[in-house]
Amino acid sequence: MSRVAIVTGGTRGIGAAISKLLHQNGYKVAAVYAGNKERADAFTAETGIRAYQWSVADYDECVAGVKQVERDLGPVDIVVNNAGITRDSTLHKMSSEQWQTVIDTNLGGCFNMCRAVIDGMRERGFGRIVNIGSINGQAGQYGQVNYAAAKSGIHGFTKALAQEGAARGITVNAIAPGYIDTDMVAAVPANVLEKIVAKIPVGRLGRAEEIARGVQFLVADEAGFVTGSTLSINGGQHMY
Ligand code: CAA
Repeated sequence: MSRVAIVTGGTRGIGAAISKLLHQNGYKVAAVYAGNKERADAFTAETGIRAYQWSVADYDECVAGVKQVERDLGPVDIVVNNAGITRDSTLHKMSSEQWQTVIDTNLGGCFNMCRAVIDGMRERGFGRIVNIGSINGQAGQYGQVNYAAAKSGIHGFTKALAQEGAARGITVNAIAPGYIDTDMVAAVPANVLEKIVAKIPVGRLGRAEEIARGVQFLVADEAGFVTGSTLSINGGQHMY
């Protein structure tokens, strides 16, 4: 029996690497994207993985999207909450919109997706939820009160839901990536990024595939005793 996995933000960056690795390992994967149809179509053409368009920030869209995936692929066993955005700015220049949109997508998206799948997982007595947090949710980051708050929230959310799911066969874990070579990190000003990379003991940015390996470990049927944990994959930048 192949398990069904939803990966949000699943057609680009870290999410694309997760979708591909799960697909290679025999999972039925639904990769969710918010808006970049061109990249999503290219991803599907390259990998054969189905892409679905909805906003994780919208609860009703998540509920409808999960129903569609279940019609196409079957009941959802695994959710990887990877979708995330940045709107970096120091607090004194940050608009309320920059704050809210990051909270709604990065943290609200985690609630919306988990809420949409939790009843089915409870009924079936099995679930694997992996939430992608961040080193910047653990340690904070200059220019990211919105992002750090949302990612930090994800780590608390993970531990709370892990307690609720444990008796029903549902594990809930987080991965806290460091700086990974993706479009998101490429958008950091070059002079700032140079200083960040200089502080990574491994001496380079991470690769999306290195995060995907962690997800693969956590979603396995055999990982039933791992719950409420955070796996930091950051090249030694922050030892937490
Ligand atoms: N610590 C201390 N001071 C800092 C600093 C830091 N980390 N970064 C910048 N500053 C200082 C600058 O040196 C500068 O000081 P001076 O004026 O005295 O020279 C001052 O702050 C203003 O800096 P900027 O000119 O950069 O200000 P800005 O308003 O144009 O931009 C910013 C501010 C938007 C925060 C910009 O610095 C930035 O984009 N930083 C990157 C933030 C970052 O790391 N984001 C991570 C994105 S990737 C991601 O989030 C994925 C993940 O999970 C890891």
